[in-house]
Amino acid sequence: MQLAHIILAAGKGTRMKSRLPKVLHPILDQPMILYSVDTSVRVTGRKPVLVIGHAADQVRETVGDRADYVLQQEQLGTGHAVMVAMPAVRDWADAVLVTYGDMPLLRAETLRHLVQTHADTQSTITMLSVILDDPHGYGRVLRDDAGQVIGVVEEVDATPEQRKIRELNAGIYCFDAAWLDEHLPRIQPSPIKGEYYLPELIGMAVAEGRRVTAIPVDDPQEVVGINTRVHLAEATQIMQRRINEQWMLAGVTMTDPETVYIGPRVQLAQDVVIHPQTTLYGETTVGEGTEIGPQSYILASTIGRNCHIRHSVVEYAVLEDDVDVGPFAHLRKGAHLAQGVHMGNFGEVKNSYLGPGTKMGHFSYVGDAEIGANVNIGAGTITCNYDGVRKNKTIIEDDVFIGSDTLLVAPVRVGRGAKTGAGSVVTRDIPPYTLAYGVPAKPKRTLSSDSES
Ligand code: UD1
Ligand code: CA
Repeated sequence: MQLAHIILAAGKGTRMKSRLPKVLHPILDQPMILYSVDTSVRVTGRKPVLVIGHAADQVRETVGDRADYVLQQEQLGTGHAVMVAMPAVRDWADAVLVTYGDMPLLRAETLRHLVQTHADTQSTITMLSVILDDPHGYGRVLRDDAGQVIGVVEEVDATPEQRKIRELNAGIYCFDAAWLDEHLPRIQPSPIKGEYYLPELIGMAVAEGRRVTAIPVDDPQEVVGINTRVHLAEATQIMQRRINEQWMLAGVTMTDPETVYIGPRVQLAQDVVIHPQTTLYGETTVGEGTEIGPQSYILASTIGRNCHIRHSVVEYAVLEDDVDVGPFAHLRKGAHLAQGVHMGNFGEVKNSYLGPGTKMGHFSYVGDAEIGANVNIGAGTITCNYDGVRKNKTIIEDDVFIGSDTLLVAPVRVGRGAKTGAGSVVTRDIPPYTLAYGVPAKPKRTLSSDSES
């Protein structure tokens, strides 16, 4: 069966009270629409068709080539929205899924079950319903005495009796594609709102003696659309819990999962430990046995095995195995710490490589630098990488000892095995195995390279 998926996302989302279109509001680190798009791909194996309208360019820019798009110029109702999307699917689809872009919690398994039921029951329309104590805002599912679905009535059009019905239309459907295509143009605008209602099709199918099946969802949370920032916060919490539970079941320890936030694209190995108030976002991967937190923020970074990161911020960085960071370290874009690096309190590293075993214990800034193996970077060392115009490079070779409070005025190179005295201002290259100090630093004597041989 060729399965198409149309996601309706043209509406404004007025109740969000935001400049940002509703479907671009993030759940954890990802715009909510991308959850729907990802789920769609998992269910159908292909890109969904997004119906966009309000802030269409912004939505298209964010989602990119992960979806195909249809523009609905005017939001004339859910039936109209699906109708404008039909040209994108009618030539090839046997069945058409329809969902909304504001339901990020909808699971792939739930959609698969819908599609499977659709096939098994040979229904013309298979839909999800939801049973809620408060039916406000939803279309009511109408059933006959035998329990067969006979239609959906919108709240505004419902009689007081119908309004009491608690089985509600979730807005998630699987349609026979040819039947859908033929019947969409027959929807008449609602006399009250003037909109073309998609659920009108249910009554039409029933009138033609076709089968319509409604499946109540197990978990109402999955199908509650996000309309306000209160819903957004609730959905974020549910997603957070889902992701955390998935990782805990996969062998990750979280000492306080309520305060741990992990984005959907993060990958964690077994025996990772995450301490309280820690966030891992973007395409971050963490190797076995690594401990992160408390109070750490990791973005789009690759972290090796048996690392330890405490009270620190790590963004777009690479940490090899056995790296120890923090408390209060900041690793910025392009920081690469090789195996066994120790980076202690109040350090900042940007666009720099620190070789294996290098230590940078206290209060240092390293930017645009290439640092070899087993270098000691004394407290308060600064690479003066920016001269006001250009970013310049600092090179420190293996086994160098940088004395406390050294300023390295880039571009500059410190040769292998060299040493700087405390408080040096290094403006010129230091040859290998040379002690230099002073302001500006001058070579004072040659050091033995015995330790090295
Ligand atoms: C709809 C259903 C209702 C159901 C409820 C579940 C209709 C007429 N009613 O009502 O039975 O209980 O969903 O949430 O379908 N959209 C477009 N273009 C449009 C209109 C809407 O893309 O022209 C999109 C919106 O962005 C939104 C979704 O479709 O994501 C639902 O539209 P909305 O107007 O919120 O429908 P409801 O009133 O919630
Ligand atoms: Ca809605």
